[in-house]
Amino acid sequence: MLVCVLTATVLLGGECLAKTGNYLSPVSVVADGDERVLYVAEATADQVAVFDIAPGEVTGTIPVADNPTGLAISADHSKLYVTSAVPAGRVQVIDIRRGNVSDSIAVGHTPVAVVASPDGETLYVCNQFDNSIGVVELGSKTQTAKIAVTREPVAAALTSDARFLFVANHLPAGAANGDYAAAVVSVIDTAARKVIKNIELPNGSTNLRGITISPDGKNAYVTHILARYQFPTAYLEQGWVNTNAMTIIDVPGRKFVNTVLLDDVDLGAANPYGIVCTADGKNILITHAGTHELSVIDRAGLHRRLLPARTARTFRSEICSTVGTKHHDASYSADDVPNDLTFLTGLRRRVGLAGNGPRGLTVIGTKVYAAEYFTDSIGLVDINSDIRHRAKSVPLGEEKALTKARMGEMFFHDASHSFQKWHSCASCHSGGGRACALNWDLLNDGMLNPKNTKSLLLSHKTPPAMITGVRANAETAVRSGIRYIQFSSPWVQHARAMDEYLKSLEPIASPYLVSGKLSTAAKNGEKLYSRAGCVRCHGGTLYTNMGKYDVGTGTGEDVHREFDTPTLVEVWRTAPYLHDGRAATIRELLTEFNKDDRHGKTSDLSEKEIADLAEYVLTL
Ligand code: HEC
Ligand code: HEC
Repeated sequence: MLVCVLTATVLLGGECLAKTGNYLSPVSVVADGDERVLYVAEATADQVAVFDIAPGEVTGTIPVADNPTGLAISADHSKLYVTSAVPAGRVQVIDIRRGNVSDSIAVGHTPVAVVASPDGETLYVCNQFDNSIGVVELGSKTQTAKIAVTREPVAAALTSDARFLFVANHLPAGAANGDYAAAVVSVIDTAARKVIKNIELPNGSTNLRGITISPDGKNAYVTHILARYQFPTAYLEQGWVNTNAMTIIDVPGRKFVNTVLLDDVDLGAANPYGIVCTADGKNILITHAGTHELSVIDRAGLHRRLLPARTARTFRSEICSTVGTKHHDASYSADDVPNDLTFLTGLRRRVGLAGNGPRGLTVIGTKVYAAEYFTDSIGLVDINSDIRHRAKSVPLGEEKALTKARMGEMFFHDASHSFQKWHSCASCHSGGGRACALNWDLLNDGMLNPKNTKSLLLSHKTPPAMITGVRANAETAVRSGIRYIQFSSPWVQHARAMDEYLKSLEPIASPYLVSGKLSTAAKNGEKLYSRAGCVRCHGGTLYTNMGKYDVGTGTGEDVHREFDTPTLVEVWRTAPYLHDGRAATIRELLTEFNKDDRHGKTSDLSEKEIADLAEYVLTL
């Protein structure tokens, strides 16, 4: 394992840097039927590692194509299903006995997680950029249905009777300039093959990552960020900007129970990621990708503490008089719980992991195994043993030097570089340097004028930076991000590495392309794009001339009237639109928010032409 990546001296010395790197990047892990072997999806190595638990070593690798991410084992333990997270997404079927890929099933755009039904007949696939759950019938080996969910499904959990699938949508959908913006958990009735409910999470819930259902079937638990986007980002103390949370859902009732914070009062537990319950249902386990930790939560204790909090909403005075005490520190009512940084005190242990960037995890008895992305390792913790015993980290392959870009990627996702570890750059720029879909009132352009988080794709090629252009270029913005958003000191090496990482980001092919080409509607839209004058500002290969214009989008409170023309590359994944995220869709941007034709000439376009133009813009 590459230990040097974790030490500042080496960072400053820079000798850890190399030109190339062939990393493994483990993202998820499952145990086989008899719990003797783990399978580990190694995203950037296009292989699944076979990890023998008893000796604690890799005994083989199975090559699989294209960015393996999600894993599931069939009910009879004979097959391993692996999602390939690429535009022409596939589920690869591995015959476990023979140890090779026996089938490859076409699914949607960027499948990142897969769930196998207990009867062995169906797979449910999270097609992240199709915004759908693919239903794969294993008999015919085809995706026979796509169930639309709200936005970017990244994880799902099936009830034990297989009747309902609970889906974590990664990002909020809809405009960002209202009073409420949050992602939802979609509940799918698997027989009817449709969403029967979207469970709303508290305001500011974004970056949903993991979901699990307790062994008794009573609760689902979801990891996410709870962003305090309503406040200016003036300081980080006590979770003023980003807090890190778990939402509890009542599975039979299909309703929201509450959201608890995973942070401590003066120490964030950033970027909660994978989540599982122990088989006995006693503990909930969560990896923190930003702080390289494992949270071990006493589940019964959690529900006991939630109970008075729930009834207190209606019987507050009664509780105070009968119980004679508030139920827990700051929380008098259910509504207080999502703001109570002490709620889990005494119910949760934080265990530091030895590796960097833990993501998916699995548990066998009391032994936890976590995929440690940046150190190419498996993190090992026995939750029964004294927490002072250091967690172990077992390498999955040979030690590799870090390229500058890889080091930058690691810093970008690492909250230990922010004051009290509250958040990483990826907390707001999620999805690999993209955006969380929320507005933030950063202080670089004055106060009380929130701006929608920008994707950092092509930032370095399209100066100036920030929608108001207040930073001369992305390099400056990176350094001010470290200083004024992380409240940390920008080291030269650190900032340069992040520049390299951001420069290395490549656009992903739009899900609106049909077999890589423009549809008939989009072809028509391409003509309208010229006719309406969009090319004047959004022309060339970057789809921006980097000029500042007043396109009539300024609002009363904001002194800014001119904005830096943004690139339109990958605009299909960066809704909502405009500097304050007021437009949920491109259609709205072209109609409702362009009434006087100052943002391209769109008023003379018919409904169909608007639809075609939007279709084209969404292919870029
Ligand atoms: C609290 C959320 C948040 C965090 C954390 C955050 N950013 Fe940002 N970032 C934003 C928002 C919002 C914008 C857009 C602001 C604007 O347009 O005025 C932005 C814009 C940027 C831009 C300019 C992009 C462009 O093309 O104009 C860069 C570069 C950037 N951020 C880098 C970083 C880095 C590096 C980090 C970590 C050190 C970071 N950000 C952390 C919210 C955040
Ligand atoms: C005069 C220059 C100019 C013209 C012409 C123009 N735009 Fe823009 N465009 C801008 C500016 C400036 C912004 C940023 C406005 C804001 O954020 O409030 C923008 C923002 C956008 C966005 C939002 C991007 C995001 O990530 O939020 C889209 C989409 C867009 N334009 C598409 C178009 C289309 C389609 C046309 C033609 C109908 C067009 N623009 C014509 C300058 C222009």
